[in-house]
Amino acid sequence: MTERIVLAYSGGLDTSVAIGWIGEATGAEVIAVAVDVGQGGESLETIRQRALGCGAVEAYVADARDEFANEYAMPTLKANALYQGHYPLVSAISRPVIVKHLVKAAREFGATTVAHGCTGKGNDQVRFEVGIQTLGPDLKCIAPVRDLALTRDKAIAFAEEKGLPIETTKKNPYSIDQNVWGRAVETGYLEDIWNAPTKDIYDYTATPEFPPAPDEVTISFQAGVPVAIDGIKVTPLQAIQELNRRAGAQGVGRIDVVEDRLVGIKSREIYEAPGAMALITAHKHLEDITIEREQARFKATVGQRWAELVYDGQWFSPLKRSLDAFIEDTQQYVSGDIRMVLHGGQAIVNGRRSETSLYDFDLATYDTGDTFDQSMARGFIELWGMSSKVASGRDLRVAGE
Ligand code: ARG
Repeated sequence: MTERIVLAYSGGLDTSVAIGWIGEATGAEVIAVAVDVGQGGESLETIRQRALGCGAVEAYVADARDEFANEYAMPTLKANALYQGHYPLVSAISRPVIVKHLVKAAREFGATTVAHGCTGKGNDQVRFEVGIQTLGPDLKCIAPVRDLALTRDKAIAFAEEKGLPIETTKKNPYSIDQNVWGRAVETGYLEDIWNAPTKDIYDYTATPEFPPAPDEVTISFQAGVPVAIDGIKVTPLQAIQELNRRAGAQGVGRIDVVEDRLVGIKSREIYEAPGAMALITAHKHLEDITIEREQARFKATVGQRWAELVYDGQWFSPLKRSLDAFIEDTQQYVSGDIRMVLHGGQAIVNGRRSETSLYDFDLATYDTGDTFDQSMARGFIELWGMSSKVASGRDLRVAGE
């Protein structure tokens, strides 16, 4: 029987050419797998037809938008995950959901190998292949760009020679990856890290310098997940979409960073994640009133580690799973409303309320009638400073000898 390979297919030039390229190099039949994670653009049906037109023997397409929002974006929100303090893991969280569908398609169509369009220099090859190794240990991996010398020039020549139903003239100087959680843009002019991004780079966000009137929004959460916007019930997917639109119109969520890739290269990336950044900001502020101090401090460390693991392609790892359990446990009381103003590139919280809040007005107030006994503070401070005081006494003694 002819060997079968499932290919992660975007519908673009490179993966369209990869269908025939893999076929010629390996003699295998190629099955194209297209997964909708909210990247927009063409319909799945258009993409399916193109895959078949480019020589795929079968095309597997999946609308995974809700799955992605519920099972990948929401855990990222609960973790307040920002890699290196900036990046909300846009591409990093889309790879594991695509991997799940690749492995499912491999089983359905009896494939032995999984192919993807990544280069040998980035994080995404690692995320795909570590995920595939974990979910389908018997499956092999191949990357035509990395392993079969499929360069851009050769791809264009191949598409023209074979008359593939794909545009080869439209030259986008950037490498773009996008989904409902955000958008990542790199390469070209941006590789000079002193160059400021030009306007044409952005798509999810409007220029924050000339914002429309401020937009006040109330986001309601239930156990860490957004459930309503301005009192109207929403699914996680709808919450992200709605905030992409409203925060995007105000230029919220533009990020310009040089980040540390897993493979040891520093690389410049421009992100736009208006919905994600507005949600993370709101969620964090709700945690500030609903999570106890020590638990909150520890959670910040856990969230950072979680972001590193996910960035590094360890979505399906045991440690990530254990951290998920901790984070999930912290979300029990993260319910309530956050009011925020979206304006001029910023999302600023100006009100919060929660039935499960730890904010105690009577303890906090400086007005008369507070319930806090200030006389307790003196003894507390005495003990809190005790060990440092003893140590500094020793230091003085040793210095005087
Ligand atoms: N640097 C990001 C990451 O490693 C995004 C990778 C894809 N970016 C792109 N513009 N194609 O998660």
